[in-house]
Amino acid sequence: MKLFETWESDVRGYCRKYPTVFASASNARQVDENGKSYIDFFAGAGVLNFGHNNEKMKRAMIAFLEADGVAQSLDMYTTTKRRFIRRFAETVLIPRGMKHKMQFVGPTGTNAVEAALKLARKATGRHGIYAFSHGFHGMTLGSLACTANAYFRSAAGVPLDHVTHLPFENGPGGGIDHIRERRCALADSSSGLEKPAAVIVEPLQAEGGVNVASRQWLHAVQDLAHENGALLIFDDIQAACGRTGSYFSFDGMDLSPDIICLAKGLGGYGTPLAMNLINPEYDRLWKPGEHTGTFRGQGLSFVAGAEAMSYIEDQDFMDDVKRKGAVMNKRLKSLVPVNAGPEIAVRGKGMIQGLDVGDGEKAGAIAGACFDKGLLIGPCGTGGRVLKLIPPLTISDADLSEGLGIFADVVNRHLQEK
Ligand SMILES: Cc1ncc(COP(=O)(O)O)c(C=O)c1O
Repeated sequence: MKLFETWESDVRGYCRKYPTVFASASNARQVDENGKSYIDFFAGAGVLNFGHNNEKMKRAMIAFLEADGVAQSLDMYTTTKRRFIRRFAETVLIPRGMKHKMQFVGPTGTNAVEAALKLARKATGRHGIYAFSHGFHGMTLGSLACTANAYFRSAAGVPLDHVTHLPFENGPGGGIDHIRERRCALADSSSGLEKPAAVIVEPLQAEGGVNVASRQWLHAVQDLAHENGALLIFDDIQAACGRTGSYFSFDGMDLSPDIICLAKGLGGYGTPLAMNLINPEYDRLWKPGEHTGTFRGQGLSFVAGAEAMSYIEDQDFMDDVKRKGAVMNKRLKSLVPVNAGPEIAVRGKGMIQGLDVGDGEKAGAIAGACFDKGLLIGPCGTGGRVLKLIPPLTISDADLSEGLGIFADVVNRHLQEK
């Protein structure tokens, strides 16, 4: 590890929590160079929904490479991009009656968010954005202004302007009433408030502490946006791509977002890809090449991302995600001590589940002890107080059960040491 410490920037983060050198990986397991095997409940921060080195995707990618497929194409047409678009439209958009256009952006989540904000401002001629407490939207200036976490914000070096943070549904001061109050205030032309260009929200906050918004609250947020002529942007970058047992985390809620930001699991294999789904009414406002990015044409990601659609269209697989999610949720609930206060809670949907232990130091100690016992798990939420479990959706029952067993042992020990 010395070489990394000597040459790699001090900004490195995850490697400090997982201090080993990984050498290989398969589905929900990673093996370090000493041969120690780890069960992966972190999955590249929600990227590896279909596991490390997914066999089906690997075969398709090898065939693509051997056939000299076009690996990098900017936004030129390629056969692999055509297949990805067709498979995505057939699997995700058409069955939902969605007419959204696909805008490929530089292949990270933050790029998708930047493009969404830019289009909303262009469409409305306004500059203000409403975002929510505990939200995480990325690290570049526009998306960072929407990100709530003080630690990340403080590194910006310039004022993070033009964004107003409202409390998320389960955050302090949050709830339907708060959204209603804001709607009433905006309806008053002498309220002193300016109408926003967009309201951006994660229907399921991942980094913010596994906070699942209700259908009712999301409808109130949608009304807040639409009755004020603002665009509704759903950032589903971490919680989509099948994570909750359906393609989008907000499926079945009868919502109409104008822009949906996707990245992370979209490329299937862990190779980068990001895309916005845009209501055509707004998409037509883009002029050719007005928002670019060199790495929009990711051939390998198009190939693997198209393969990912075979999981999404497989109802048995999606039902199994819900079943495994229920197993995780039940196990986590069993870990909450009987006389625990409200600060200890379990939250989640499908295979993103979180145990809020109410204290970042304790959560960090639990994550560290899990690592020592061969389980990778990442804290999130305010001060890192929530242990987030996001294993690959393809994890075997045996690995899921073994990982939950390790987690339960460690958590029991730490939560009893009150
Ligand atoms: C909801 C959400 N939005 C945006 C991002 C930023 O994505 P990226 O790190 O690929 O820029 C993340 C990353 O964790 C995320 O979880």
